[in-house]
Amino acid sequence: MAKYVLVSGGAGYIGSHVTVELLNAGYEVIVADNMSNCDETCYEGVKKITGRADLPLIKMDFCDLEATRKLFKEHQIDAVIHFAAFKAVGESVAEPLKYYKNNLESFVNVITAAHENGGCNILFSSSATVYGEPEKLPVTEKSPRQPATSPYGETKQISEDILSACVKAYTTDGIIKGIALRYFNPIGAHPSALIGELPRGVPNNLVPFITQTAIGKRECLSIFGNDYPTPDGTCLRDYIDVVDLAKAHVAAVSRMLDGKMEESYEVFNVGTGRPVSVLELVNSFEKVNNVKLNYRFTDRRAGDVMSVYADPSLANEKLGWKAERSIDETLESAWKWEKSLAGKE
Ligand code: UD1
Repeated sequence: MAKYVLVSGGAGYIGSHVTVELLNAGYEVIVADNMSNCDETCYEGVKKITGRADLPLIKMDFCDLEATRKLFKEHQIDAVIHFAAFKAVGESVAEPLKYYKNNLESFVNVITAAHENGGCNILFSSSATVYGEPEKLPVTEKSPRQPATSPYGETKQISEDILSACVKAYTTDGIIKGIALRYFNPIGAHPSALIGELPRGVPNNLVPFITQTAIGKRECLSIFGNDYPTPDGTCLRDYIDVVDLAKAHVAAVSRMLDGKMEESYEVFNVGTGRPVSVLELVNSFEKVNNVKLNYRFTDRRAGDVMSVYADPSLANEKLGWKAERSIDETLESAWKWEKSLAGKE
């Protein structure tokens, strides 16, 4: 009997890659999205990659409790992967209520409907942002969470707490189980270049800014700070390939559905464990893709942490998952995707 996974926000960047890997692994997927931060490009791409022209896309907003209830009533849902959320750090500082309302209400609604419907396995897409500027590196799941520096980051922390509290409260009936995956910096695209990141307006994140600069959409990449006390003065991050990241979701869903969880709420870091500086990333991009990138050093960006990278050993051991793609392969895929968007490939 096939197991059904609801992917909320499934038409977006990470959601579309996860949908592909779930289908590849034999799960049935229900993609639901309010299309607020994407068009149908990635959804169409998923159908092409998987040969699943019949893949349903339900256009709905998880802030609508009645619509969420209806979805759970009308479908078999064995697990939910909840992506549906806003994700721009700067915007969340300017418009905090938009973030608290959307990100928290939609998640509460998903858990409410799951609970009313007899329970479910819930996987929440969290972020390394919960660790803030860590005192010790690499960070393990036991590293303390630091006070959030943005409403976006706060919604990730609160959502983790909501899931953990609901799992505990409803544990007597044992009907809600939860996993939070804390992603480090997801980058890259599917090797087919049929799905990838589609930032609206000027990208905030490094890799889309790099690819848009390389293609000529942006004039110059600003590298925010080269005076950090790091080997080359630029910040260190743990860049995780989006396909590897997607596979971690499949491993986590299988762990839940196969009854392998050791606690009813578990947290895993999803990263490579390899720190890479901004400058190293830029140099690798230029080298592997044989392009010259226009960049300059500017002031530090407010709110940036200096260094953060994962100790992924818990996920390696318990999920049987490990990041596999090299940074070069990932940067190649990001460039191939940008070129395909520009119609140059
Ligand atoms: C941010 C968020 C994180 C979120 C992630 C993915 C925080 C503190 N960070 O991570 O929660 O999950 O985005 O959306 O909440 N950089 C440049 N020039 C640029 C852009 C970035 O030099 O034009 C540098 C930054 O200073 C940083 C690195 O590149 O050192 C990565 O930046 P970015 O891609 O924005 O991700 P984070 O800030 O690490």
